[in-house]
Amino acid sequence: RAEVVINDSSSPAVVDRSNESIKHNIKPASSKWRHNQTLSLKIRKQILKFLDAEKDISVLKGTLKPGDVIHYVFDRDSTMNVSQNLYELLPRTSPLKGKQFPTCAIVGNSGVLLSSGCGPEIDAHSFVIRCNLAPVQEYSQDVGVKTDLVTMNPSVIQRAFEDLVNETWREKLLQRLHSLNGSILWIPAFMAKGGKERVEWVNELILKHHINVRTAYPSLRLLHAVRGYWLTNKVHIKRPTTGLLMYTLATRFCNQIYLYGFWPFPLDQNQNPVKYHYYDSLKYGYTSQASPHTMPLEFKALKTLHQQGALKLTVGECD
Ligand code: CTP
Repeated sequence: RAEVVINDSSSPAVVDRSNESIKHNIKPASSKWRHNQTLSLKIRKQILKFLDAEKDISVLKGTLKPGDVIHYVFDRDSTMNVSQNLYELLPRTSPLKGKQFPTCAIVGNSGVLLSSGCGPEIDAHSFVIRCNLAPVQEYSQDVGVKTDLVTMNPSVIQRAFEDLVNETWREKLLQRLHSLNGSILWIPAFMAKGGKERVEWVNELILKHHINVRTAYPSLRLLHAVRGYWLTNKVHIKRPTTGLLMYTLATRFCNQIYLYGFWPFPLDQNQNPVKYHYYDSLKYGYTSQASPHTMPLEFKALKTLHQQGALKLTVGECD
């Protein structure tokens, strides 16, 4: 059987994955997974040779001023000017300065979370990272609600908030931002030129409505540094996904890392269908020029780390 999958180029690839979920069989959460402290520390040290989450998680105020010209990371020929609003929202110090957490959850957006009952377990971690402003309230039993850091690719404004075409969508985004209640909102503003206006809209809303979030805008070198680390470890990813970026950053400030909602396959381990996202109707095969990810390859690397005890992947129900 052949299926279209997320791949690393702008055109979907056709691959045989008749036994994909067998290949990726992962024991349930309660099985004998043990954290490998030595390996985790070794990985942290190796990653530190490429990037430092404390620094690369955000550009700081002191390093830019309004009007400065920035070349987009993926569109080197296109530039943006640092706006007054962006400047105002840059943090003065790293939002993770000096932080160390005993356990962190990184919540990916796969539909594998549905009916997992993982919400309480996720919320019990000391630091919870989520991706792309994914909704939580209506799915709290499975995904939890605690959010210490949430990412927001500019494309989310288009995909989940209809590019704020009318008051209803603006209000929806406002509600979501208000609900963040002091957590870190991580916006990759300097990656691709397409996000320019969307980032500006969000910045404006945050300032105008005095929204209580701590904004962070990843450094220009982060993407290449993360890619460099994984390439050195023979994981040839063209463009790391948000989930992999978060894992790579988290190794700096989390002693134990638990991953939920990472499952880039249309069938689960029992061959039941899995939604691409737990909260929308985006289909497998979704791929765009702006987002040429290599999720199954990343998953393989994460699975190996799970087996070695460097992180824990949960891809089924929680206890
Ligand atoms: N993810 C996954 N399996 C899925 C969907 C998502 O493992 N079926 C993980 C990926 O690591 C992904 C993260 O969850 O980065 C968050 O999901 P999503 O919002 O879809 O992120 P991206 O695909 O990285 O976002 P974009 O396409 O906008 O870059």
